[in-house]
Amino acid sequence: MKLFKTAATLQEHLQKLKKQGLKIGFVPTMGALHNGHIALMKECKKKSDIVVCSIFVNPTQFNDKKDFEKYPITIEKDIFLLETNETDILFLPDVDEVYKEGIHQLQHFDIGYLEKILEGKYRPGHFQGVCNVVVRLLKCVQPDVIFLGKKDYQQYLVLKTMMDKLFPDIQIIAVNIQREKSGLAMSSRNARLSINARKDAAVIYKKLLFIKRNIFKKDFNLLKQDVAEDLLSHGFERIDYIELCDASTLLSTQPVKTKKMIILVAAFIEGVRLIDNLLL
Ligand code: PAJ
Repeated sequence: MKLFKTAATLQEHLQKLKKQGLKIGFVPTMGALHNGHIALMKECKKKSDIVVCSIFVNPTQFNDKKDFEKYPITIEKDIFLLETNETDILFLPDVDEVYKEGIHQLQHFDIGYLEKILEGKYRPGHFQGVCNVVVRLLKCVQPDVIFLGKKDYQQYLVLKTMMDKLFPDIQIIAVNIQREKSGLAMSSRNARLSINARKDAAVIYKKLLFIKRNIFKKDFNLLKQDVAEDLLSHGFERIDYIELCDASTLLSTQPVKTKKMIILVAAFIEGVRLIDNLLL
């Protein structure tokens, strides 16, 4: 695996590969890698010739300063995982390299109502930060295809909206959520949980499956209430949302048999905000 810290050296190397007609696949990450990320690398290897991964903990997407400061950094372990899992190139820039004009000179992206609902509502500015960093990374890497996880389903739709306008030639592939045996969605933030909270947190997936089984049998508001009670009795201290949405727009919906729907949850346990979802 080759490691680059500057956009100029990365681009010089990529130009050579592109001249050989090789297909470049890109997996952007913030590190603290786990098997959810590795699934993206594997998918990338299947569908492209060269796997480029970036690790960059993007300061502009953290609306909560403490969340940014506590974000786990495990760079040596990450490099080992990437080297043993299909990655050809790691881009590891620092903040000044990505934000040459500083982190306060942000571009504004028109992502419409997606910015105001669900994650957007609870994390103001988050998706503008995500768009800012991904645009900068895409300009550096200029991939043929980008791989995103469905774990961050709204992020995937936001980036799709932005990229359809600004990078229509780059293909987007969304990869299924990878889970622990317990059902807990893999996440870098899980590392901040105690063993007990990690066990308790698996209740989210159980309740997502419970809603799925009952979606056409019971009133959604009653299901939601049941789920909220169960989360709170399993150590969750706050629930931001439990929503049923149209999977293509993320607009709130009533259960409709002909519609592709998604249930999304965001809740705090031990002060750590977890998100999960299930496509129906
Ligand atoms: P990060 O949280 O590191 O996630 C990087 C990619 O891995 C995202 O596309 C995310 O959806 C995917 N991912 C994380 N956990 C997953 C899981 N359990 N199953 C499947 N995919 C999973 O998302 C970000 O970083 C950042 O916002 C980023 C896009 C890199 C911009 O800074």
